[in-house]
Amino acid sequence: MNEITRISNVAPGVFRKTLTDVQVNGYTIPSGPMAVHLNPELFEDPLKFDPWRRTEEKRSLLLRNHMPFGGGIRLCLGADFSKLFIALFLHILVTEYRWKEIKGGEVLRISEIMFPQAYHIQLVPQN
Ligand code: HEM
Repeated sequence: MNEITRISNVAPGVFRKTLTDVQVNGYTIPSGPMAVHLNPELFEDPLKFDPWRRTEEKRSLLLRNHMPFGGGIRLCLGADFSKLFIALFLHILVTEYRWKEIKGGEVLRISEIMFPQAYHIQLVPQN
């Protein structure tokens, strides 16, 4: 779930990259990648889907820099609902179905992740 919400940001609100450090009301917005989830200094090979990247020694650092639902008083209202939904979906998918790739699946990245030709699969119930 963490790797899904890291790599597929559905909130395309960050379109720009800061070229130099910017000071705002005593805070520093550091220059660098437009999305912390794609910062190669934190997430090695950031465009690779790798659910096993959260090793014991990196877990705390990666979780501190994982904020798909924002934070503070503007934290997404649907965060827990969405995590529950993803967990249920994955559980039912892998325990009750098998699937076959039909077509599509090419990934296009602008600020968010997109599948221009969609991704077609055929689901087959397990018995
Ligand atoms: C994977 C799914 C979702 C992601 C990644 C996501 C992400 C976000 C993000 C990044 C924000 C902005 C937080 C900020 O301003 O700092 C936000 C706000 C919000 N989200 Fe979501 N969201 C998701 C699903 C949902 C769902 C399912 C609902 C409703 C049932 C929802 C309701 C809201 C609301 C109402 C806000 C505004 C909160 C406020 O301004 O106080 N979101 N979401």
